[in-house]
Amino acid sequence: MRTPIIAGNWKMYKTRLETSAFFDALIPQIQDIEHCAIVVAPPYTALSTAVVEAEGTRVAISAQDVHWEDQGAFTGEVSVPMLLEIGCTYTIIGHSERRQYFSETDETVEKKTRAAVAGGLKAIVCVGETLAERDAGQALEVVRRQVRNGLGRLTGPDLSHIIVAYEPVWAIGTGRTATPEIAAEMHAEIRKTFAETYNEVAAEALRILYGGSVKPDNIAALMKEEDIDGALVGSVSLDPASFAAIIKYQ
Ligand code: PGA
Repeated sequence: MRTPIIAGNWKMYKTRLETSAFFDALIPQIQDIEHCAIVVAPPYTALSTAVVEAEGTRVAISAQDVHWEDQGAFTGEVSVPMLLEIGCTYTIIGHSERRQYFSETDETVEKKTRAAVAGGLKAIVCVGETLAERDAGQALEVVRRQVRNGLGRLTGPDLSHIIVAYEPVWAIGTGRTATPEIAAEMHAEIRKTFAETYNEVAAEALRILYGGSVKPDNIAALMKEEDIDGALVGSVSLDPASFAAIIKYQ
């Protein structure tokens, strides 16, 4: 049994004040939730506030990115020990916006993933094809490559700290969701590639989240698919009522 994960990626939204208001509104709505894990990924400046607000609740706090070195002359970067110190337990890695606007590659994704897991964070590693790649019939191949190269040299127990998020670039922030059938096909392929790269047992336990225009009215259909183990929610996760509705998809 894979415990589903509903994660919210806030991107570059919300101040600390807005973060507190969000948790004040969200927490009472999710008190009784037991069927899934809940993760919220605010921007760096609001992480400490989120950790304090989420204390004693079922919500885990995630960063949106991390550097692979523990410290060094890397202006603007934040390391795994720094995130652990303030109480973060997850980080997103390789989001398509980082790949598209900040030169993230499979190679940097792999280094970050290895560092995050070695340091004790859970890593939500994002993969997904662009519209041009899908139209060219390359979607499966692109995602296979991202899984093989982006997760790289992980072994044994490290694999249980990996979560993969399938986020087709053409569905992010566009209001255009992948159909449950398309998502299911891609998720099955990701699990197969993971099994080939590592092993069957780890692949069976791997949580694969879907991301891209997830909303309260499409989450239930997505979650019915065998290989969809949760969601990485962008814009809709900024609103506590809508995020709570997604969490209560059952
Ligand atoms: P969206 O973003 O839900 O706003 O499409 C998803 C994501 O980028 O993680």
